[in-house]
Amino acid sequence: MSRKITINFSKSSAIDGGLVVLLCPEGGELPQSAAQADPEGVLKRAMDVAEFEGKKFAALEMLVPQGSSADRIAVVGIGDPAELNGKDWLRIGGAVFGQVKKSQKVTVFADAGDSEVPADEIANIALGILLRSYRFDAYKTKKNDNGKSGKNDSVAVTLVSGNAASAKKAFASARAVADGVALARDLVNEPANVLGPVEFAKKASALEKLGVEVEILTEKEMKKLGMHALLGVAQGSVRPPRLAVMQWKGGKQKQKPIAFIGKGVVFDTGGISLKPGAGMEDMKGDMGGAAAVLGLMHALAARKAKANVIGILGLVENMPDGNAQRPGDIVTSMSGQTIEVINTDAEGRLVLCDALWYCRDRFEPQFMINLATLTGAIIVALGHHHAGLFSNDDELCDRLSQAGNTTGEQVWRMPLAPEYDKLIDSKFADMKNVGGRWAGSITAGQFLQRFVNETPWAHLDIAGTAMGSPQTEINRSWASGFGVRLLDELVRAHYER
Ligand code: BES
Ligand code: ZN
Ligand code: ZN
Repeated sequence: MSRKITINFSKSSAIDGGLVVLLCPEGGELPQSAAQADPEGVLKRAMDVAEFEGKKFAALEMLVPQGSSADRIAVVGIGDPAELNGKDWLRIGGAVFGQVKKSQKVTVFADAGDSEVPADEIANIALGILLRSYRFDAYKTKKNDNGKSGKNDSVAVTLVSGNAASAKKAFASARAVADGVALARDLVNEPANVLGPVEFAKKASALEKLGVEVEILTEKEMKKLGMHALLGVAQGSVRPPRLAVMQWKGGKQKQKPIAFIGKGVVFDTGGISLKPGAGMEDMKGDMGGAAAVLGLMHALAARKAKANVIGILGLVENMPDGNAQRPGDIVTSMSGQTIEVINTDAEGRLVLCDALWYCRDRFEPQFMINLATLTGAIIVALGHHHAGLFSNDDELCDRLSQAGNTTGEQVWRMPLAPEYDKLIDSKFADMKNVGGRWAGSITAGQFLQRFVNETPWAHLDIAGTAMGSPQTEINRSWASGFGVRLLDELVRAHYER
């Protein structure tokens, strides 16, 4: 749905029209390669006049010097090249794409002052370009100001570097990740009238073409398994629930799998505990956890990750209806534990508890990580810049935090403790699905923990980061695709043989 974008790598490029982008370190000295575009030093003067100093991610378009074969010229600041990390190069890529505008041909001279940009970082620039270029315009029927319908305006980007050959290799896996992020964003942006549980499950089945084994469990099969917590949420909707179970077997045969589980509430009205009308449309994104897991599975399979990975999606719609579940209802989860449903809007945990139990029961994974747009309270606590991390395992937490720092998809650990656990004890059943006014994100985490036993587990509350998060160099869409890059990095750094 995004602008169709091709990325090439080249050792040298003669400029022949289109946009030329130069990278400029802090201090405002253009690199050697700029000589081709700026034989007379005109650009340098233009930069001085505009007080462009090469600050990280700053950008400036300039008048094309007479006799240049470029149609447009822009410069992007990169700060101090010695201090740049992967995350920075990614954002530089985003800033580069920010200058593309209507150009259909782009040549980026990828050098950092007097030194070459390393191949992996050139791949990061390319990834940043792809992430920034994403847009969701499937339902815009009017032509854009390019005079072209959004679907046809392609752009060809050439990254010029001495490291072109190895950059091209590194880019293959970056492309897989970019596609995974775009898939997750598409799913979150897609409205619920188009994307119900059945349609979402079909998207999971589509991964079979990448070699992922996919099973889709229907209502009947879930009933047999005793997943009455998940089924209770679904019973108010005319659209039946699904549980998607994906397996990517890229690791050694005997290697225990790692597992990712996503909350996939395709729309959350709150059910009988109906949400207020204002902003309810955002609840089409309440499947952001499932979208991230599906995007991750896509990325891992497309880049042929050497790991055994399970992905499970709990797919339901939470609606009010004559048949919907009521506050006070008591359901029996697959684990056998009973739950008093105090608030039908605390539905995500009801979906996840059966998915988590199913996962550990069937696969006995090395660890389970679930992702969920679980609580509004996590937005109150952390805003839109960190996802909440809840876990029973310090090593897993450290690895997730590290992956967060590497990718820029940051997490922040929150506590779990018996004092909080007590808050979800119920008068009538083993537990209730809400813990009262305070510490709402933590009591939600305590609830999930009751379904993982001793399995190393982490819960990522992505309510603040999956959608409506700040617009950045690498994301201009409502849906961010949060989690795909974070977990791809986690797998890459620790779980591939
Ligand atoms: N899907 C919501 C959480 C949410 C809120 C996600 C805002 C994204 C943005 C979740 O199902 C929910 O409604 N949680 C309730 C829990 C409460 C009833 C204990 C909430 O956060 O208010
Ligand atoms: Zn809810
Ligand atoms: Zn919800």
